Amino acid sequence: MAIDPNENVIRRAAEFLQDTDSLFVMTGAGISAESGIPTFRGANGLWRKYSVQDLATPHAFARNPALVWEWYRWRQDIILRAKPNAAHHALVRLERRMENFLLLTQNVDDLHRRAGTRNVREIHGNIFRKKCSRCGAKRDSKDVRSVKDSLPRCTCGALLRPDVVWFGEIIPSEIWNEALTFLRTAGVALFCGTSGVVWPAAGIPEIAIRQGLKTIEVNPEPTPISEIVHVSVRAKAGTALPEILRFLSH
Ligand code: OAD
Repeated sequence: MAIDPNENVIRRAAEFLQDTDSLFVMTGAGISAESGIPTFRGANGLWRKYSVQDLATPHAFARNPALVWEWYRWRQDIILRAKPNAAHHALVRLERRMENFLLLTQNVDDLHRRAGTRNVREIHGNIFRKKCSRCGAKRDSKDVRSVKDSLPRCTCGALLRPDVVWFGEIIPSEIWNEALTFLRTAGVALFCGTSGVVWPAAGIPEIAIRQGLKTIEVNPEPTPISEIVHVSVRAKAGTALPEILRFLSH
């Protein structure tokens, strides 16, 4: 029987995880792909069909808030119908094994929390939260009403916007600082389902390696991260993560 070329890397990834009690995880759109949520890049990626400049910048919202809301409502609707997949659930199990665990996600879809991960930080915000475009007040809600008639407004009168980080905006500094602090004492960093090209998150693998962490990537495609990590598992997250867990003893 042919040996699966991934089996050795999966074993190595499992060894790294077996030997640590402090795990840092960073995820991107690829971890939710098997839940039916489109990624941004790649063959069917959102940025193939839609324009960043028209939909995901502060300028786009100022110019045409109805169009931006329509796009976000469409995405909210897809996400509400989706369920966490085997990869999200595997990360919940990994968290339970660890003394220290931090999951930094670039996803705005809430699926890690819905799966049951406790220590999750959303570096690009959350698609179900709104934020006032003037006073910054925040509001949580999963109502996905049509925006054709009226756009959501803050009590201060200004338009509410999705509380996500758009291109040209700064990520929340408290989350960034918490991630860097965590990396100083973590043993292993796992990068899963991210193309590793959007900064500043794209800088984290390099930082982890400089801090001496063992690093693992899970992605069916090669990325800039693949070139620098210790172990690169070339497979879908929903297959690879449960497989890695199978090799861990209790
Ligand atoms: P991308 O769409 O850039 O990359 C998704 C990655 O997931 C690719 O490298 C795919 O190969 C990989 N992938 C696809 N299916 C997978 C699977 N089943 N298992 C594992 N990996 C899989 O998404 P991100 O890296 O998250 O930001 O993109 C980063 C940021 O760019 C996003 O947060 C978003 C986007 O524009 C903003 O909107 C600010």
